[in-house]
Order: sequence, then structure tokens, then C-alpha cells
Amino acid sequence: MVKSIAFASGKGGVGKTSVCVNVAILLAKLGFRVSLLDADFGMANSHIMLDMKIKASLADLLDGDAELAEILCETSTGIKLIPGGSGHIELLNLDKNKRWKIIRAIDELRDETDFLLVDTPAGGSDATIDFAAACDEICVVLVGEPTSFMDAYSLIKAMNLERKVKRVSIVVNLAASEANARTIFNNFVKATAKFINIELEFIGWLPKSNALQNSIVARKPITLSQNTPDRQLMKCLDLISSELQKQNFSNADGIKFFSGGG
Ligand SMILES: Nc1ncnc2c1ncn2[C@@H]1O[C@H](COP(=O)(O)OP(=O)(O)O)[C@@H](O)[C@H]1O
Ligand SMILES: [Mg+2]
Repeated sequence: MVKSIAFASGKGGVGKTSVCVNVAILLAKLGFRVSLLDADFGMANSHIMLDMKIKASLADLLDGDAELAEILCETSTGIKLIPGGSGHIELLNLDKNKRWKIIRAIDELRDETDFLLVDTPAGGSDATIDFAAACDEICVVLVGEPTSFMDAYSLIKAMNLERKVKRVSIVVNLAASEANARTIFNNFVKATAKFINIELEFIGWLPKSNALQNSIVARKPITLSQNTPDRQLMKCLDLISSELQKQNFSNADGIKFFSGGG
């Protein structure tokens, strides 16, 4: 059984790709077979964090110029990256058929994948909602700012209304401590619970980390470092990765990854 997990946020720049890429590496280090779908189509950047050169992307698959096997990139960690393509304007506005085609194309990885991690675009577009709702679990990354609260709220509400999403996992990024992260989470629950009937669960947090920032500039994910430059951050990432190994499902309606039979 593959478990699929979406990373979403509403607001951009809150740490979705950082969490997604590093959790993917930690799961791969534990021996799981991990595929990472960069669904931030047209503005994909997980390959940059992983320092990989992309030959072809989902744009080529949609054009019929390449099969899934031809666009898959294997990283040194064993992660299979499905590149979302950067600089392809046509990928910014994928219609429903194209989204469906991508989700079904990935069925092919069923027998070689334990975890499919999906890095979704910022915003609350149909693409974000479709790719997040197609996953078993949805992980929303939040920071303690009203703009992040508002955008996460709008996204969760849309997923709840349109796809009957019943449960969302929350990671609080850029918190001062676990207590501070839990306060941010509780404030978010208070602000949303009145308006949306949904289960929100705190599954972890991350401190602000210069080492994480440096790792992005150096294009070497922090979870690949031999010496642990930031022990607290690594411990937090480990905890998030173990929470994500549990069977906590969003129970969304509609098209799902790996539900195509076969
Ligand atoms: N915990 C953190 N500590 C320090 N900087 C962070 C942290 N999380 C994110 N950042 C910074 O925020 C930027 C955006 O993060 P990214 O993961 O690309 O966000 P998103 O995918 O949500 O747009 C990163 O390039 C990094 O500089
Ligand atoms: Mg991103």
C-alpha cells in the first residue's frame, strides 16, 4: 500500500518545499521507497533544493513527448522525483483533464513506492485542491502570522467544502519553541473551528534555522549533512516524519492517487 501525503499552506514561502524535501529524505533513509511529485507546476523548485538537473518534466508527459519513466529522476538518496517543470507557462493553469492525467499516470509507481509526497502550489487554486485532496493525508504548513492563518483557513475551508476533507495535519514552522508552536496551533484552531467542521491535528513544528537556510543556498538538504548542524531542527524533522508514517487520513471525496485499479 502506498501512502500519499500532500504538503500545502495557502500562503507561499512558509516552508512547504523545505519540509517536503527533508521528510522525503528522512523516510528514504529509513529504507522506505519514496517518490516526490513536485506539483508546484510551472514554478517547481524541489529539484533545486535537491540539486538535480532536470531533463524533462510533466510538461513533456502532458504533451505526449515522454513517458513517466523518462521524466522520473532518481536522486542519490534513492528518492524518485517527478519534476513539475519550471518556466512552462502552460503548466500554470492545468485544466481538470490534465490534472486527472497526471494523477492517473502516477498509478504506475504503485509497486515501487511506499510513500508519495506531493509538494503543492501556494494559493487555493483548483490544482492545489485537487492534488491535496487526491492524497491520503494533507499536511498544512503554518506560521504564526495573520496572513498565513488567513490563507491556510481559506484553503482548508475550500478543501472541506469542495472535497469533504475531514481531517488536516498541521506543522507550525518558524516557532520559538514547541510551547510557542502549540499556542500558534491552538489560536489557529480557535479562529477556524467556529466556521469549519474539520479535525485539525498538531503533528509537529520547526524552529527558525540558519542551518536550514544555508542548506537551501548550498543546494544540499540539511537531512543529508554528515555532521548535524542544527540538532533541534533535525529532532523536529524526525518527529514530523514519524507522525507522517501513521495512518491519519483526510478522507476526501473524489479522485485519489493509486485508486485507478491495476
Ligand atoms: N525553519 C526555517 N528556518 C529558516 N528559514 C526557513 C525555515 N523554513 C523556511 N525558511 C526559509 O523560507 C524560504 C521559503 O521556504 P520554502 O520551503 O521554499 O517555502 P514554500 O515551499 O512554502 O514556498 C526558504 O528558502 C528559507 O529561506
Ligand atoms: Mg515551495
